[in-house]
This record gives sequence, C-alpha cells and structure tokens, in this order.
Amino acid sequence: MKVDCHCHILPEIDDGSWCLEVSADLAHRQVAWGFERAICTSHRTSLYRNTPDIVNRACDRLREALAVRNIPLELVPSMEYRLVPETWPETLEKGWLLPWEGHHILIELPISDGTKVGDIVPVDEVKRLLDMGYEPVLAHPERYMYLSMKEYIGLKDAGCLFQRNAGSLEGLYGQAVSERTELIMKAGLYNMVGTDLHNERYAMFFDRIHFRAEEF
Ligand SMILES: [Fe+2]
Repeated sequence: MKVDCHCHILPEIDDGSWCLEVSADLAHRQVAWGFERAICTSHRTSLYRNTPDIVNRACDRLREALAVRNIPLELVPSMEYRLVPETWPETLEKGWLLPWEGHHILIELPISDGTKVGDIVPVDEVKRLLDMGYEPVLAHPERYMYLSMKEYIGLKDAGCLFQRNAGSLEGLYGQAVSERTELIMKAGLYNMVGTDLHNERYAMFFDRIHFRAEEF
C-alpha cells in the first residue's frame, strides 16, 4: 500500500486546500503519483485550532467529492499536532489524538522559532506518547534549523520516528533545508516520506521532479 502520511488536502480548515475543488484536484494528483491512501494531517496549531469533529466532517465532504469524481484515493482523517502551549496541553486533556495506521501520531515543532514550544520539552512528549501506546512521528525534522544533530539523535533515541518531506532535498524549502535534509539522510535517521502537500504550487514542484510514491 502506497500511503501519503502527511498532507493538507482537506478543504477549508487550515493553510492547505482553500476549497473542495482544489482538494479533489490535489487528491487526483496524489493518485497520479501512485498513492492509494492519504493520511489527512490537517494542522492543529495556535492559528488552526482543529478538533477531531472538524477534521472528520471535512474528510467526509472530500470523500463524497472523490466518490462522485471516481478518484480512487482512500482518506484517513488525522492531524499534525504542533507542540506549542496554546494547543498541545488541551489536545492531551481532551483526548483529541487521531492516530493513523492504529498508532502513529504526527507531531511538529515550531518551524523557525524553537522558543515557541514554551515549557514543553519535545523529548518528554515523545516519551509520553509512547507510554500512551502511540508511535510519534516528527514531521519534516529538516525544517527546524535551530535543532542540532545531537537534539535530532536525542529525539530518535527517545523513540520518535522521522518523516522527511518530499521535495526537501530537491530545494522546495530552499538551499539550507536541502543541505540539512542531506545530513539527516546520511545519518540514517529518516523512517518515511510524506508530501506535506498544501496546494498547486507543491503539486507543480513534485511534477517537475518526477516524484513517485514509494511503499514504506
Ligand atoms: Fe504539514
């Protein structure tokens, strides 16, 4: 089964697809790249305070649209949980974790400013999720330029899986991220690849680099 474990194709609930038509088009592109299943990891951040109800409703809407259009992509509702004080403690308190493949939870850190985690210690949250029976997956570690190699290894040693973004190596996020991706790859720290597909700009980039889905 070829699975895109990270994408923002659900309509109108985060900074990904802004309408149902765009969502259906992005799903169509994922099928063209070879995916059979998409884990719909809409953001849960201070800006996009999605809940399981909101994500499930958006997922149902897109499922219907794909059925009408005969687009053979299985959708799994989930979220990308940013470890920030505005949303992460509430997520845990209310039990708003939507795992995929039974136990995977996609987490992310603030992209450019590591201090935004506040009092949250990412390694501790990895251990907490493992204790709860989940397998935490860190989204695009290559985009956190403030992390050191020692910190990456600390997260891996704590039991966190690493998800590389398709396009990171090829320059979708710039030269510095590309070089960081190479370092993490050479250290053998990645477990899986996801598209982190948000919009047509991403889709065009993947077409340009002849991106193809792989089994994992
Ligand atoms: Fe994402």
